[in-house]
Amino acid sequence: MPYAAITGWGHYAPERVIPNTELEQMVETNDEWIRTRTGIQRRHVVAPGQATSDLATRAATVALERAGLQAADLDLVIVATTSPDLLLPSTAALVQTKLGAHNAGAMDMNAACCGFMYALSAASAMIKGGGVQRILLCGAETISPYINWQDRNTCILFGDAAGAVVLEASDKPHGLHAYRLGAIPNTAEMLWIKAGATLNPITHASLDRHENCIQMNGSEVFKHAVRAMVDASLDVLKQVDCNPADIDLLIPHQANLRIIEAVAKRLELPLERTVINIQEYGNTSAASIPLALAEAADAGRLHTGDKVLLAAFGGGLTWAAGFLTWGGR
Ligand code: UT7
Repeated sequence: MPYAAITGWGHYAPERVIPNTELEQMVETNDEWIRTRTGIQRRHVVAPGQATSDLATRAATVALERAGLQAADLDLVIVATTSPDLLLPSTAALVQTKLGAHNAGAMDMNAACCGFMYALSAASAMIKGGGVQRILLCGAETISPYINWQDRNTCILFGDAAGAVVLEASDKPHGLHAYRLGAIPNTAEMLWIKAGATLNPITHASLDRHENCIQMNGSEVFKHAVRAMVDASLDVLKQVDCNPADIDLLIPHQANLRIIEAVAKRLELPLERTVINIQEYGNTSAASIPLALAEAADAGRLHTGDKVLLAAFGGGLTWAAGFLTWGGR
């Protein structure tokens, strides 16, 4: 069984929606600016008491159904997240319990917005190595508690959501065939939550400075994002001896419509072959790619054997790209 095919997919976004017009009441911004500079029209945010494991469990339940599996069939649960329920234990351990996946191990992976790509690479390698047969991989984020709702540079951008895939050992040539992962040194401060962990524990002073919230140098991150996503994509295409023209669908991280358009343009891929759902969800960090993938699959945009290019960028600053062929079921 030399391949790790995606056999199930699901997504979930919380019911509460914040349209751009609601943000106009909170900070000096407007719907027109947000739409034209980012492509975002609304974002979903959790209800009180709803946490990352709840979003992941909802997406995972659908993914398991699509795969035709019971939770007890799983060998491993991985949650890619930068907004865990707790520092200890992992969010994956909580998802394992909520699903009843009592035969599965559980771990989280954090590579910020690239988390799903890093975890997909690791999970695929584990299955191909023969150690495990079935992995549930969730990308899930509850970013809204880490937003300073008075900071117009960030509060317009992010949303809460989850996406999930089931990976299974397969003798059919589907799943991830190539990937490239990277991180740009000395860029941590460009996109970070400064306080709240071991380096800078929360203090009254750090709370007053909103250092428990996301801070970002948007224009610098933007420049790095386009370059890195394009370079990583070209590297991966070279590994599998493909041209951009061979790609059926590009599924990019949804951080900014202008970034997506610039990446697609430089890869000479038409937007009709690019998944874009940023208008509905904003930037959902590690949930962004599995959410877009699951929506594309539900919309009938993925067919058996399709060549799919994935590209991501995020805090770290991390970057990633991957090439897979779609298996479906
Ligand atoms: O997922 C992780 C990766 N994250 C990203 O890739 C995000 C990358 N960055 C971005 O998406 C964009 O840089 C932003 C959307 C964050 C900002 O767009 P920008 O085109 O880079 O704008 P800017 O930061 O250069 O700001 C342009 C102007 C500034 O005003 P002045 O100085 O020209 O007078 C800002 O103060 O727009 C102003 N501005 C706003 N105006 C209305 C910034 N935020 C807002 C806002 N509403 N929400």
